[in-house]
Amino acid sequence: MAERPIGMFDSGFGGLTVARALIDLLPGEDLVYLGDTARYPYGPRPLAEVAGFAHQIAEELVGRWDVKLLVVACNTAAAAALESLRDRFDVPVVGVIEPGARALVQATETGRVAVIGTVGTIDSGAYQRAVDAVADVELVSLACPGFVEFVERGDFASEQVHVLAQRLLQPAVDAKVDTMLLGCTHYPYLARTIGDVMGRDVVLVSSADETAFEVRRLMFDAGLVRDRATGGTATFVTTGDVSWFEELGRKLLGPELERAEQVRWD
Ligand code: DGL
Repeated sequence: MAERPIGMFDSGFGGLTVARALIDLLPGEDLVYLGDTARYPYGPRPLAEVAGFAHQIAEELVGRWDVKLLVVACNTAAAAALESLRDRFDVPVVGVIEPGARALVQATETGRVAVIGTVGTIDSGAYQRAVDAVADVELVSLACPGFVEFVERGDFASEQVHVLAQRLLQPAVDAKVDTMLLGCTHYPYLARTIGDVMGRDVVLVSSADETAFEVRRLMFDAGLVRDRATGGTATFVTTGDVSWFEELGRKLLGPELERAEQVRWD
């Protein structure tokens, strides 16, 4: 069982932030990453539709790739389907929302915090529930429609994305939060733009590292850690354009993303 790969997915490139953290933390593990770039963005879609995508992808990762653990490296998919995936599949399923909420409340000093995410994630209330479960803080929740599309196009710091960030993040600036959780795995790629708007004093928290630690903890507990410290492989599959996935993905993740494969649904 421990020899099998870890499976993970996102609507596109965003989950690569989590993949990077996992490769760095668990370099002996094999990883299969599926980016559903043909159907991004998930954020504006009804949660039931996103749940359908998540189950189809999990079926592919568990059925075809025989993964030993599944990481839902997408907040929107986790908000839509984490519980039903846990019910449906025998392998452990890890999401990004609880780890993110924990990292957020650990980082704040004033107790005034913000989370930004897709419309689907924010409207689901999943972060409010996850934060309420671990601490008593004042949470400003903001949807940021449009951010994911900029990242998928490889645009992280243009004038346009800056203007959009200024408009969308103003309520968090006004609320004088001291910490902001990037509650969409795409958003760490916009950290410079978001940081410029929020100002130097606001700490930006990503759930990627905390999620990787949770995966490691869970694998140790379940006896799923491979018996080798290095030499893990990373395989990337996409539902969308393979050459774009390779080109932008390599820039975002690094040299491990040498090539990608096309998903072929049966
Ligand atoms: N990375 C996904 C998330 O964390 C983006 C969703 C989307 O495609 O809109 O929510």
